[in-house]
Amino acid sequence: MTRFFILTAVLALVSVVHAQCDSGTPHARVTGSGSSFTATRGSSTVYSGSDYRAAIQAALDSIDSGQRVSVIASGSIGANTITISSGKIFEGCGTINVANRSGRGAIESLNTSDVQIPYLTMTGNPYFGLRFYGTRNLVLGRITMNLSGGLGIRFDRDAAANSNVKMDVISVTGAGSHAVETWNIDGLNINQVIARNVGESGLLLQKTVNAQVGLVDGNNVGTGTGYATFRMANNNGQNANGNYNTNVYVDKVVSRGGGRGVFCVSQSGGVVIESVDLASNGNNAILIENCYNVSIRGGTVNGGGEVRLAARSEFPNNRDIWITLTVNNNSVRESPCGDNTNWTLSGNAARDIC
Ligand SMILES: *[C@@H]1O[C@H](CO)[C@@H](O)[C@H](O)[C@H]1NC(C)=O
Ligand SMILES: *[C@@H]1O[C@H](CO)[C@@H](O)[C@H](O)[C@H]1NC(C)=O
Ligand SMILES: *[C@@H]1O[C@H](CO)[C@@H](O)[C@H](O)[C@H]1NC(C)=O
Ligand SMILES: *[C@@H]1O[C@H](CO)[C@@H](O)[C@H](O)[C@H]1NC(C)=O
Ligand SMILES: *[C@@H]1O[C@H](CO)[C@@H](O)[C@H](O)[C@H]1NC(C)=O
Ligand SMILES: *[C@@H]1O[C@H](CO)[C@@H](O)[C@H](O)[C@H]1NC(C)=O
Repeated sequence: MTRFFILTAVLALVSVVHAQCDSGTPHARVTGSGSSFTATRGSSTVYSGSDYRAAIQAALDSIDSGQRVSVIASGSIGANTITISSGKIFEGCGTINVANRSGRGAIESLNTSDVQIPYLTMTGNPYFGLRFYGTRNLVLGRITMNLSGGLGIRFDRDAAANSNVKMDVISVTGAGSHAVETWNIDGLNINQVIARNVGESGLLLQKTVNAQVGLVDGNNVGTGTGYATFRMANNNGQNANGNYNTNVYVDKVVSRGGGRGVFCVSQSGGVVIESVDLASNGNNAILIENCYNVSIRGGTVNGGGEVRLAARSEFPNNRDIWITLTVNNNSVRESPCGDNTNWTLSGNAARDIC
């Protein structure tokens, strides 16, 4: 027992020591400001000049797999792309301002393994803030994006799949599109996605299996749209063998205002959401449409658009939807009747269920 406590204390200390951008001795650094930037690798200068992006890329290109770059300087990369290759660790300690390079990410890592971005602060209006595909063992740490448009983090649709992706705390403000949009991931672990004043979804999962998500928290997400703080679409959670055995686990979804709270659509499912806390959503607090094996195990809805089970004719009807929920100041409607729906409802909401 004592040994266990000493070990946890030591581990806690180690994680505190490392919980800082630019801690220890990174292999390369980017320093400077305004129109003067320097990239150094150890004691050698690998870039000196006015181009912030070039300084960052030179630092990244100077290190080997397993090594780390810390970008201390703040600056603007313009409508350009920083590329991170396999095994490299990228820390954005300053604020990286970006602009819109059509169809591209401000920072990309494509067809790579073992890339880590433990810290990043980004501002501006990117097409995609971070863009990925074909990654293995990607780790994103504390990512803060204060945007004036664009999409925060995107895993591409029509490209190589990803496996074993981890994200710690992703905070996105002001994206015009989604805060985080995934496609084609097997093995996703997210601690928190915090979305504020975002145009479309907070967290949008598509063709993603074996996912664990702690918290999705949205405020004013997708206002005036059918998007949601937490949306699952395009066969999300469908296992490789076609079935929907549970493989997506979400601890909590919190949503205030905006468009929808929770939205499952287009043959998605295989999901358990332990708890929701939804209020004043402008569109459906919850909409489940052509989804399979979806459980919401508890929580509350107060006001907002109706809690609805629906179906479009192009896909098979809902089945195996189990919902335990308190709904107040709202209504609950199941139309058409799903196959094996199990409601355990409380609260004052009007009910029109099967
Ligand atoms: C990624 O790999 C795929 C093949 O798996 C290839 O078609 C594509 O061009 C690669 N993209 C990059 C940027 O390397
Ligand atoms: C990002 O936005 C948050 C919340 O509005 C603010 O506290 C923080 O200072 C902003 N950071 C940057 C770099 O703009
Ligand atoms: C980025 O530029 C493209 C092409 O000019 C445009 O279609 C798109 O709306 C722009 N995106 C943002 C976020 O401004
Ligand atoms: C739903 O997922 C659970 C957990 O994997 C599984 O036991 C159950 O059979 C699934 N139900 C259906 C109908 O797919
Ligand atoms: C219904 O909404 C009102 C405010 O709009 C709130 O005061 C009340 O507590 C809500 N009722 C329940 C049962 O939550
Ligand atoms: C419906 O769900 C409740 C709560 O999870 C459970 O106790 C009950 O057995 C379920 N009913 C059926 C018919 O499966």
